[in-house]
Amino acid sequence: MAAPIVRFNFLHVYHRLALFKHRPHETFVTLCQFYSSESAARQKPEQNITVLGNTYKTDSWTNVRPKILEKVGKNLHLKKGHPLNLLKTRIEKHFYENYFNRWRNPLFSVYDNISPVVTLEQNFDSLLVPEDHISRSLSDSYYINTKYMLRAHTSAHEHDLIKSGLDAFLIFGDVYRRDHVDASHYPVFHQVEGARLFTEHQLFSKVRDPTNLKLFEEGRREPTKQESHTLEAAKLMEFELKSTLENLAADLFGKGLETKWVETYFPFTHPSWELEVKFQGEWLEVLGCGILEQQILKSESIVKQCVTLIYRHKIFISYFKIDCVWQVALAMCYTAGAVDSIGWAFGLGLERLAMTLYDIPDIRLFWSEDSGFLSQFEGSDHLKPIKYKEGAHPVSKFSPCINDLSFWIPENFSENDFHDLVRNVCGEYVEQVKLIDDFKHPKTKRQSQCYRIVYRHMEKSFTKEEVNVMHEKVAKLATEELGVEIR
Ligand code: PHE
Repeated sequence: MAAPIVRFNFLHVYHRLALFKHRPHETFVTLCQFYSSESAARQKPEQNITVLGNTYKTDSWTNVRPKILEKVGKNLHLKKGHPLNLLKTRIEKHFYENYFNRWRNPLFSVYDNISPVVTLEQNFDSLLVPEDHISRSLSDSYYINTKYMLRAHTSAHEHDLIKSGLDAFLIFGDVYRRDHVDASHYPVFHQVEGARLFTEHQLFSKVRDPTNLKLFEEGRREPTKQESHTLEAAKLMEFELKSTLENLAADLFGKGLETKWVETYFPFTHPSWELEVKFQGEWLEVLGCGILEQQILKSESIVKQCVTLIYRHKIFISYFKIDCVWQVALAMCYTAGAVDSIGWAFGLGLERLAMTLYDIPDIRLFWSEDSGFLSQFEGSDHLKPIKYKEGAHPVSKFSPCINDLSFWIPENFSENDFHDLVRNVCGEYVEQVKLIDDFKHPKTKRQSQCYRIVYRHMEKSFTKEEVNVMHEKVAKLATEELGVEIR
């Protein structure tokens, strides 16, 4: 069979970055997947999993697999000479060289080694992600158990860093999402998150007469602003955020770059936007951003923590003194420095940008240990314009092996579960999994699906036998774990 030409679609890559932009009412289909994956998981006996030296007990929500856990701690963004590290250095330098505090020190502090194991509270609740949001489903995120997961975005750390008193920071890290298998999707990728808070004085410092300008009011939520923000504060923040990101894009892609802003939705920002840049004649979405929901900055959990702490030490018990507790707690909350500020945040996918900047044709190449790939970047100055040469590391030279698999699917079968299973069996040796046929038997009403699996080694040609071994294992595990019936 002739090898299909696999072209990667930039918009697909972004689809993964934009998981959080779905509104709650767009989640219906995935809620069914919630339960299918959940019941499959329920049958498994309890085990221990160790991630970065910590041991966790599995439960009905566990859906991380060994192939994914192998990636935790690899930290490609910290590997000298790796294209993701070169890009990270460029972004860091841009912020270090262009933004200073009043002592002329770099304004943004950088966090690049925070563990990707986070609580569900960090990943979702702290960011006001609704209970029924698509990103919470078992078919979209990797859960260690009902309490811990592999972060699905670097935004998971925003609340903690703001709470600790920071007002300008960048977070680089690996993030994990369950998704389809193809040349532009990989269950682990890297993001950089940026956030900046402004006090009233800082935001209006450049305005000629700021006397009557305020950050806050008790107003109405509108498309342009949140209820607690004044229009002038929201507009200035929008300007600050957009110019920061346009400058970064111009630095990375060169001057004369055409950009456009598109309004979107994230549960933790309002208003929210995506930035698209014109690259080689096409509009590409490169990042998501917005004005942080004020509720996140209010850091209510600090109040709660203070109160619990004081109660625990049994300092105040009487009714009268409870009033004092609140005052102490509120005072401490104010010292966190976030309640009187307004903030913006952005999140940007590094692979996506690196593929564009360096002409890297397949997302699996970032995980290649092969010197043919890495040597093209090693020792390079991060500013040197590098173009990855396929000829030097011939991604497409080794021919693919294509096998189809047809099966009857059980009720509530999740496509992502199957993609994840194939990725777990075959690792980097699978290039694409594609649904090529889907029909319902008119009499029995049973549903059948056929998937085309493209196997391709990046450093040699596969033999038919090698591929058959993997393909049979996929069929066996799909039967055992997902309850499908091979046709
Ligand atoms: N965390 C979002 C995502 O991964 C991106 C984002 C970050 C959006 C910060 C707004 C503000 O999809």
